[in-house]
Amino acid sequence: MKNILHEILELAVYAPSGDNLQPWAFRLGENSIDIFNTSDGLALYDFDKHPSYIAHGALIENIVQIAEAKGYKTDVKLFPQSTASDHIATLTLSQSGFVNPPKLPPIKDRHTDRTPFLTKPIERSVIEDLKKSVANYKVNFGLVTSKKTLHKLTDLLATGDELILDNPEIHSYFYKNVRWSDEELNKTGDGMHIRSISPSFFDVISLKILQNWSLTNILNKIGLAHVILFKRRKIYKQSSALGYFVIGEETPEVYIETGRALQALWLKATAHGLSVQPLSSILFLYNRLQKNHKERISEREIVLIEKVSREVYSTLSVKDGLITFCIRLGYTKNINTIQSVRKSPQII
Ligand SMILES: Cc1cc2nc3c(=O)[nH]c(=O)nc-3n(C[C@H](O)[C@H](O)[C@H](O)COP(=O)(O)O)c2cc1C
Repeated sequence: MKNILHEILELAVYAPSGDNLQPWAFRLGENSIDIFNTSDGLALYDFDKHPSYIAHGALIENIVQIAEAKGYKTDVKLFPQSTASDHIATLTLSQSGFVNPPKLPPIKDRHTDRTPFLTKPIERSVIEDLKKSVANYKVNFGLVTSKKTLHKLTDLLATGDELILDNPEIHSYFYKNVRWSDEELNKTGDGMHIRSISPSFFDVISLKILQNWSLTNILNKIGLAHVILFKRRKIYKQSSALGYFVIGEETPEVYIETGRALQALWLKATAHGLSVQPLSSILFLYNRLQKNHKERISEREIVLIEKVSREVYSTLSVKDGLITFCIRLGYTKNINTIQSVRKSPQII
């Protein structure tokens, strides 16, 4: 059985995680997998480790779906010690007895696509199928397809990219996780390939130059961030839909549930040939500000984050819940965008 658990994990770690940092480690039992969170929660986005919980949710969903395809059912026990602990879950597998187990989902084909999408509408039957894929999770999901609202929302959410060139800490965090070549990517086994962030040669050169914070700071004074943002906004506008997850009660378990629903939806979208890109960074920062953690963020940035996020909430008419995650969806010309790499599962 341990071999099977290993096999399951080798594939399950292809779950998405913020900046592809893969914040997990595992302990294997006879028929169980214990999952631990290795995120230090220090990044500005990582308020109360929420983004890492979403990544863990996606990982758990992968394990459950792979196990199912191999003929096992999974009992998921979240936080077996306490929610303050980094012991995220104990997953216990047993034979499902299903005669026809479901097909293995397209786990390795799922990836983040940051290219402009074709703006052709998503067929009604596909939309229904996407909604069905998240219906059994304890989070609310909405999908915007009206062009006008979609453009407004992608415009607002693109502001997250502006902060990379505005806030020294976000700038340094972003560049720490960029990999400039295949060799560098294979050496670290984590982070994001520059070509997955920006396939255009010109943009790669600009991003390389902007690695220097002092230079970025000077160029910003003449409006550089706005030029870059203008390009990003144009790319993000080229989407067919925007999906968003809303929760009521804010607990680590609910963030994990968001991650499970996100991954179920992303796998379904992949199976339908749809590309997906998360656009959530500004909302993670807004959540931090809502809890009155304003340190490390400038006055100007605070005003911007609050203004933009409030507009996202009012455009989506979310009054009582918290938006935990947004994604843009669409079909692409170029399905073969760069795949990110993974480390082998770290067994402790
Ligand atoms: C919590 C979380 C937040 C993310 N935020 C963003 C984001 O703001 N922009 C983006 O382009 N990708 C974002 N991603 C996607 C990750 O960068 C991506 O999953 C990771 O680099 C691995 O690449 P892959 O999805 O192609 O396997 C996010 C993923 C997670 C799980």
